[in-house]
This record gives sequence, structure tokens and C-alpha cells, in this order.
Amino acid sequence: MSTGDVKMGVIGCGSIAEIAHFPSIVQRKEASLVAVCDSNAERAHTAALKWGAEQCYTDYREMYRKAALDAVVIATPNNVHRNQAVAAARAGIHVVVEKPLAVTNREAWDIVEACKQAGVKLMVGCDRRFWIHNQWAKELIDAGVIGRLLMSRASLHEHWYNYQNHVAATDFRLNCRVAGGAAVNDTGAHVIDLLTWLNGSRVKRVVGVARRMAMPEDYTLCDDTALAIVEFENGALGTISCNRFSPAVNQATELCGTEGTIFTATDATNPFQSWPMAVYTDKDYTVDTLPQILKDYRWPQLFWVEDIVDDTVRKRWVPICPPRYPNNYDRMTQHFLDCIINDKEPLVSGEDGARAIEVMCAVWKSMRTGAWVNLPLEEEIVPPHYEPLPPEE
Ligand SMILES: NC(=O)c1ccc[n+]([C@@H]2O[C@H](COP(=O)([O-])OP(=O)(O)OC[C@H]3O[C@@H](n4cnc5c(N)ncnc54)[C@H](O)[C@@H]3O)[C@@H](O)[C@H]2O)c1
Repeated sequence: MSTGDVKMGVIGCGSIAEIAHFPSIVQRKEASLVAVCDSNAERAHTAALKWGAEQCYTDYREMYRKAALDAVVIATPNNVHRNQAVAAARAGIHVVVEKPLAVTNREAWDIVEACKQAGVKLMVGCDRRFWIHNQWAKELIDAGVIGRLLMSRASLHEHWYNYQNHVAATDFRLNCRVAGGAAVNDTGAHVIDLLTWLNGSRVKRVVGVARRMAMPEDYTLCDDTALAIVEFENGALGTISCNRFSPAVNQATELCGTEGTIFTATDATNPFQSWPMAVYTDKDYTVDTLPQILKDYRWPQLFWVEDIVDDTVRKRWVPICPPRYPNNYDRMTQHFLDCIINDKEPLVSGEDGARAIEVMCAVWKSMRTGAWVNLPLEEEIVPPHYEPLPPEE
């Protein structure tokens, strides 16, 4: 495919499409937004006008048949991801599916299988991997700067009201029959993916708790508090914690290695340090041998005499201030286009997305059994209250 030719469509013209996908797509010179689809005709029409898409649909099957798309972004409620993604694959269309890839492990693997069979690219919209400081953390871990990563935790706390009252187009998140879950399936989707990727090892087993603790039953039946311990195949341990009652939005990731620690924070300032990233390394670097990321982006940029006299880079926290732009969604969309044009495997693959769903499902199973749950799961796990849609033929 030649540059500039990727014809894209978006299904679901709600909040995340509006905030992230439309602006990122229309800015890319390799892509053109040709069609949008939403079951709410007015929302589809408004989005088509605003973002310059020539075609507008309320039925995704019709869009797949008529719009001659190369790729589609699926930004709809979780319960329809499977059928919309499988149909896209069968139509030979590359797919980005917003997180969570699906709700049950069976739904998730159905998507992976359909995309594999059709030979189309599948990426999951886990944008946290595209924040620069998380990418740098990965690079520093892989380069051994903090030694062996043995223990890590990732959290994402955000009160329901923040997104629901100000940003979301619908209330699907509050409806467990559609969303499947909240602290585990919605915010948890981000941190499960982030922690697994940074550890560079698959999750072997999970034990966890997810329940509704803060919100009344008439607001939602979904869980608003979730904690899980995961053990990776390489033996490292991690914890995932998410809640939907803290008014202070906080996404913090702490990565403890045998020779150092890295903190990163996205979405908001984290309470542990005032920078989006901080690195402590026990290694005997000098100013000259410091890894390039630390050399270029430590903050404040220290006066050269202080570097020389006090050897300031050794055995101390190094605050890192990454550039803000291009933002995580621009980088994610650009990456997906690169995968299509140059036939590369997306950074957040379908398998990664399905394995994250397995972790979520394992938390739900662990709630029933009170015990560790081994992965991969043998049976389909359906979260409480969730009502899976039948697969479309
Ligand atoms: N990456 C992130 O940080 C992030 C942030 C927000 C949402 N999301 C994910 O994006 C997806 C959508 O969330 P949202 O916040 O944009 O929701 P939303 O409620 O704001 O918008 C959903 C849109 O989908 C439309 N829709 C519903 N069913 C449909 C169907 N069958 N066919 C076509 N359109 C349909 C609705 O009319 C609405 O316009 C979810 O899976 C969510 O988890 C990801």
C-alpha cells in the first residue's frame, strides 16, 4: 500500500473517538477518514460533518460492505467489540479495537482467531504503552538499568463521575450487562496491559478481589474497587489496583528491580514525586556513561559544574521530564498506520489484548473460588451480570 492511501472508518462516535481517534486520524498524512458509524444517527452525522468523513452509517455491516475501508477503529461499548471486529476481519479490514478487547476470554480469542485467519492487523487501543515515559521505562528496564525487575505495581484511580458526568456520550460503563465490569474491565484494562508489557513476561497466575464498595446499587452494579496479585512466568510478582471512587485521578506505576526503581505516572501528577517519571539506579554511571534518556531528559538540567563536582547522577532519584508531543494517541495511530503500510506487528497485539482479558476473567473466577487461578483459562469466564451477545454468523 502506498503512503497516503489508508482509508479509515470509525465505529462509535462517542467520547474516546471524539477526544482521541478522530483528531489523531485526521492529522495523519498517511490516512484519510472516509466513513463513520454510530447506532445513534445524529451522533454519526455530527461526527461526519465535524471531522470531514464523506460517508455516515448506523450499521457497521453496511459500512464494511460499502465504504471500501482499509482499516477501522472500533470505539463502541465492550459487549459489541467481538461481533464488530470479527466482521471487520472477515471483510478484510485491519482493526483497532478499543480496550478492553472484549469481555469474556472466548470473545477475545474469537477476535484474535478471525484476524489471524483473514490476515489483517489487529491492535488493541492500550494507549498507556504509547506515553513516552512508559516507552522509556521499558527501554531502561530492557537495558538492565534497574537490574532484574522482580516486583511492580500499577494503579489507576478515577472517580466514576469524572468521566461519566463530563465526557462519556452514553452510560454503558454503568451497565454491567454491557460493560462486564468497571474497576477490573475498564480502568484495569490499562494497568494490566501496562504491567505485563513492562515486565516482558506473560501472567502465569492471578488472585484478586473485585467488588462494589462505594457506589449505591441504583447507580451501578459494577465493581468500583479491584485488587489483584499476578505472578509472571519469569517468577516476578505484580499488583494491580484500581478504584472508581477516588476523586484524585491517579495512574502510577512503580517498578522495583534489584539495582534500581522506576516510577512513571500518566493522566495526573502522582503523589510520590512531581514528575511524570523518576529513575533511581544503583549502577555506577557517570555523567558521560549515563543512558541517553537520563542524559537528555533529566530535570532540572543540572549546571555542569555541579555534575562534575558532586557527581550528581549517582545513587539518587533522577526526575525525567519527557516531551509532551506528539501525544500518546497520535503516536498510537501513527504506529498502526506504519504496521499496515510496512507490514509490521502492532505493539499491542491481539494476543496481548486477549491475555489481558484472561487476567480480568481470572480475577472474576478468583472471586468465586477464593484461590489462585492459572492461565491460560480452560473455560469461558463470564463476569457477574454480563450478558454476552451471541456471535454473528
Ligand atoms: N483508551 C482509553 O483510555 C479509553 C477511554 C474511553 C473509552 N475507551 C473505550 O472505548 C470504548 C467506547 O467508550 P466511550 O467512552 O467512547 O463510550 P461512549 O458512551 O462515550 O460512546 C460510545 C458510542 O458508541 C455508540 N454505539 C453503541 N453501540 C453501538 C453499536 N452497536 N454500533 C455502533 N455504535 C454504537 C454510542 O451511540 C456512542 O456514540 C469502550 O470500549 C471503552 O472502554 C477507552
